[in-house]
Amino acid sequence: MGKVNVLDHPVIKHKITILRDKNTGANEFRSLVTEIAMILAYEASKDLSLEEFEMETPITKTTGYRLAGKKQAVVPILRAGLGMVDGVLEVLPAAKIGHIGMYRNEETLEPVEYYCKLPNDIGNRDILVVDPMVATGGSVNDAVERLKERGCKSIKLLCIIAAPEGIKAIQEKHDDVDIFVAQMDENLNENGYIVPGLGDAGDRLFGTK
Ligand code: PRP
Ligand code: URA
Repeated sequence: MGKVNVLDHPVIKHKITILRDKNTGANEFRSLVTEIAMILAYEASKDLSLEEFEMETPITKTTGYRLAGKKQAVVPILRAGLGMVDGVLEVLPAAKIGHIGMYRNEETLEPVEYYCKLPNDIGNRDILVVDPMVATGGSVNDAVERLKERGCKSIKLLCIIAAPEGIKAIQEKHDDVDIFVAQMDENLNENGYIVPGLGDAGDRLFGTK
């Protein structure tokens, strides 16, 4: 079973409170999403392997360390996932980027895929799927399905706010995906929005409402 890692940290709680506030504007919202994504990527990269090499500081020879092993790819689920890419790249600047475009049908809440462009060697990379919101879990489940069709075996999900229903749905369908979530919220309302949530993440990032 994939692990669910919830960040439990006063700085995260502070930042998420500002994100939730309906009076927070798009500029500040984007900055906070970037900052939280960076912290999630830091947590999710704890298990990366290192190789040792000999190096010299101005004082002495010593052992240095560099990241080794499989390369990464960041895969944002459009649109809102785009807001997390820069933060993840601060931690993993060599990662390639794939895009999966999905929107939720507002009545059925089912995801509709409209775009998919992935690096050619995606199947040989460790994947970080990023989306700030996991509500029913349908968008993430479909994105993971698409990545598995392309041969991806090691997939982690980074999200900022999740509903318990969505996490359960992902675990039921893809129990090999490790999940990193900054904040677990209470539930979904009758319109499929996360409560207390922050509203529509895409609209708040891009100022479309
Ligand atoms: C939002 C969000 C997720 C999805 C979550 O995207 O960014 O992708 O909803 O809902 P789910 O877990 O029930 O699938 P939205 O469909 O609003 O598209 P957008 O990012 O283009 O605004
Ligand atoms: N997508 C969002 O952006 N917000 C929600 O609360 C649910 C889905």
